[in-house]
Amino acid sequence: MSPQAARKAEPASRPMVQVHRVSKIYPGGVEALSGISVDFPEGQLTSLLGPSGCGKTTLLKIIAGLIPATSGLVEVDGKTVTGPGPERAFVFQDFALMPWATVMRNVAFGLELKGVAQSEREAVAEKYIASVGLKGFERAFPHELSGGMRQRVGLARALCVNAKVLLMDEPFSAVDEQTRRKFQEDLLELIAREHKTFLFVTHSIEEAVYVSDRIVTLSRRPSQVSSIVEPQIARGRDPDQIRRDSAYLDTVETIWQSLKRYLD
Ligand SMILES: Nc1ncnc2c1ncn2[C@@H]1O[C@H](COP(=O)(O)OP(=O)(O)OP(=O)(O)O)[C@@H](O)[C@H]1O
Ligand SMILES: [Mg+2]
Repeated sequence: MSPQAARKAEPASRPMVQVHRVSKIYPGGVEALSGISVDFPEGQLTSLLGPSGCGKTTLLKIIAGLIPATSGLVEVDGKTVTGPGPERAFVFQDFALMPWATVMRNVAFGLELKGVAQSEREAVAEKYIASVGLKGFERAFPHELSGGMRQRVGLARALCVNAKVLLMDEPFSAVDEQTRRKFQEDLLELIAREHKTFLFVTHSIEEAVYVSDRIVTLSRRPSQVSSIVEPQIARGRDPDQIRRDSAYLDTVETIWQSLKRYLD
């Protein structure tokens, strides 16, 4: 496997996404989030970890402007979120692809909504389809792809709209371990290449520690921020070497200790 992509040393980043005292009670009465306040720094990847059902997807959807908070507010690049916007792109847990449309149309869809001409949007989409390793599948339909390939389509679609903030909800959940590790390297390369702010939900502590600048752990529902950890891992080395590194292993252990209290 190629050396892990080195990330440029960032000066102290300003917050790109700010969540202020956000609570969410769903209409049926389920209280998902309870007064969450957290910042997501520009140009960094922040992971959200927490027990199943604690409200990770809910928080991402509120930041995306897809659902409203019951109270509190979210600012993106200093502006209060009132609905979806082109500076934020969502990679869904369940792909959310249009089954009747080709890979090309799915990937270019955000640009189609913006009114970009067909030839131009297909040129951009082609570039991102290739960058996620799907060259040759432009004319395929979602049902002709594996779960992992569908997730790559979702990722290419999000990259295509050139958003500043990428909201990724378990983007690697449907793939085997080898593919997952390949995706992690791809993601690290992407972060090193493109100055974007990533919010990344995962169930894997190891994955979070491997790819993140910051890790926010959430408590059980109604969830609150439980801890914030910044892994101090020297990147740009062989992936296996990193996974044996004591800083990596210690961070995995610290986060496990903070999450295991939420086991049933
Ligand atoms: N549309 C909805 N209406 C009512 N309740 C909802 C809705 N969506 C989510 N919930 C509830 O809110 C809580 C948080 O759900 P959410 O999907 O945000 O959790 P999650 O942390 O993403 O879980 P997972 O790790 O399993 O993906 C759950 O109890 C869920 O049942
Ligand atoms: Mg979820």
